[in-house]
Amino acid sequence: MKKIAVYTSGGDAPGMNACIRAIVRGAVFHGVEVYGIIRGYNGMIKGDIIPLNSQSVSNIIQRGGTVLKSARSKEFMTPEGRKKAYDQLKSRGIEGLVAIGGNGTFTGAEIFYNEYKIPTVGAPGTIDNDLYGTDYTIGYDTAVNTALDAIDKIRDTADSHDRVFFIEVMGRDSGYIAIQCGIAGGAESVMIPENLSPVSDVVKTLKQGFSRAKSSSIVVVAEGDEEGNAQKVAAKIKKQMDEEVDIRVTTLGHIQRGGAPTAYDRILASRLGLGALEGLLRGEKNVMAGVVNNRLVYTPFHDTITKKKPVADDLLRMVHILSV
Ligand code: F6P
Repeated sequence: MKKIAVYTSGGDAPGMNACIRAIVRGAVFHGVEVYGIIRGYNGMIKGDIIPLNSQSVSNIIQRGGTVLKSARSKEFMTPEGRKKAYDQLKSRGIEGLVAIGGNGTFTGAEIFYNEYKIPTVGAPGTIDNDLYGTDYTIGYDTAVNTALDAIDKIRDTADSHDRVFFIEVMGRDSGYIAIQCGIAGGAESVMIPENLSPVSDVVKTLKQGFSRAKSSSIVVVAEGDEEGNAQKVAAKIKKQMDEEVDIRVTTLGHIQRGGAPTAYDRILASRLGLGALEGLLRGEKNVMAGVVNNRLVYTPFHDTITKKKPVADDLLRMVHILSV
């Protein structure tokens, strides 16, 4: 393989730049020509494709976002869109692809591979950590630390005013961010979609806290929780409390997607970027590179998007026990 291209797609994640850097520098090291596709599948369709070299990726390892930009492409979901994308790659002689992204990105990559057989290897880049085939995804650690920083700050004001705060964190259908920053932030309760934590359980925990003269509490709510978003959950809980509680709701939102990646994310991104590239050059296709038990592994795209990666049971139990 002599010519490859790399793209980032879907929601951006801190560490994507470190991953791009590793792929580009790895390609240069192996004597392979490397191109960058701008704005993911949209750029592939439009032919927004630029040559990259070692210098193109200087001074980006520490930067959040993605220098290749990102998008969620509706056109690529159509056969006509994918045909245009294929023609753009073919006309440039691009023989292989490295896709950095999450669920949507790999769904598109799998369909594209099945139709046009251009070998593609993925690197998991999403703050949600919801991909089977890797213990951690690029950006997750940074997002958790960003959310934790916010929780620590909210805790100060919650304590001063004797308030209960409901803090909504991202994660789409997954509770990984919520459980991790909930534990690290000392939350009284964490509500995640993987484990039904009924409002009545949270009410019980809050009441127990009040009975022990606890004057403020933090409940972390994953945006995909079955009981609804943090606003809805807070309203339900307010109704079930016997005494008057001063409740506030904070939705952290896209702040969790920005910022300089942590050391962990930079190293993971570099390892997965190089792993994806070298896998591609060795003949891997239609798979995602991941790190499981500290070993580089490749998992079919199909499994990464269809299989569930469960949140460890003991973590939720621990939140409950430690809020005593
Ligand atoms: O997949 C990353 C993510 O940030 C999810 O946690 C969230 O549900 C979604 O993307 C938000 O997407 P958008 O930036 O398109 O609003």
